[in-house]
Amino acid sequence: MSALETVRAAPGLDEYLDEVERRLSETVSAYPGLVARIGGAALAAGGKRLRPALAFLSSPLDAAPAVAAGAAVELVHMATLVHDDLIDGATVRRGHASAWSEHGEDAAKAAGDFLFARAFSVLAAEGDPGAVSVLASAALSLARGEAMQRRQRHDPDTRLDDYLERCALKTGALFAAACVLGGAHGEYGRLLGIAFQIADDVLDCAGETIETGKVPGTDLRDGTPTLPLLLAAQDDSVVRAALAGGALDGALVRVAATGALERSREVARDYASRAQACLDGAERREELEALAEAVVERSF
Ligand code: IPE
Ligand code: IPE
Ligand code: MG
Ligand code: MG
Ligand code: MG
Repeated sequence: MSALETVRAAPGLDEYLDEVERRLSETVSAYPGLVARIGGAALAAGGKRLRPALAFLSSPLDAAPAVAAGAAVELVHMATLVHDDLIDGATVRRGHASAWSEHGEDAAKAAGDFLFARAFSVLAAEGDPGAVSVLASAALSLARGEAMQRRQRHDPDTRLDDYLERCALKTGALFAAACVLGGAHGEYGRLLGIAFQIADDVLDCAGETIETGKVPGTDLRDGTPTLPLLLAAQDDSVVRAALAGGALDGALVRVAATGALERSREVARDYASRAQACLDGAERREELEALAEAVVERSF
């Protein structure tokens, strides 16, 4: 069985995700209008639903997490994607035109805000202030991560530690929140999220749109200093200049030629192993270990 098949075979996971899917549709369609249509389209376009799956896999064997928790983490994630594409100027998401490119910037901002608001209302309806506070901290981290990324823009001398801190904020925090809402502690999720973001940053250099549903090369075009771009910039002056805001011609091919993609995958694997090392006593250890493997070996 492949790592992904092991994850998908977890008893009860499919049923939980089906319920989350129903809750997502209800939550997004409750206030009909343009933003609900944009949210509905983002939902219908799919996505891996990794964060609700993580909430489920973090729960005790005899108690699945609240459906609201899975729906809320996915809604925060979707809200950030709608805003993220606007920030990144990305025209394709989940294989379709991104919200801002189809409906304009104002509609995308409003749709992202709507999805954030719906995330918190679905979770608050459970009457557990601790859970709301966990999600609120993660949403704050996401915003801080994006702000940090903005400050690092066009800087090929961004320190690797600062890049990793950014990954922890913009991706690790929501993964950790999913684990905590499931009932576990968050360190596995935080490390897994960093591994996941590094893998995403490699896919941005080398992925195929047909698999990722996104257009590659967005990070270099935006001057976002990701691990593969930073490592390549250390060895190649053309990549360095492109990352700093200069000409892009041929730079992406040169990134691959430096070996930076493989070196980045190695760092992602290291974070995945560190995540796995946090799983002592986890009830669904086998699936969580497999998930860490799947996250770094993925092509989508
Ligand atoms: C994309 O997340 C944003 C990152 C944190 C890299 P996913 O790759 O989980 O996106 P979907 O939900 O599957 O579309
Ligand atoms: C992750 O970064 C975005 C968030 C955590 C919101 P990216 O900007 O790399 O995500 P993608 O590649 O567009 O999905
Ligand atoms: Mg993006
Ligand atoms: Mg981004
Ligand atoms: Mg990316």
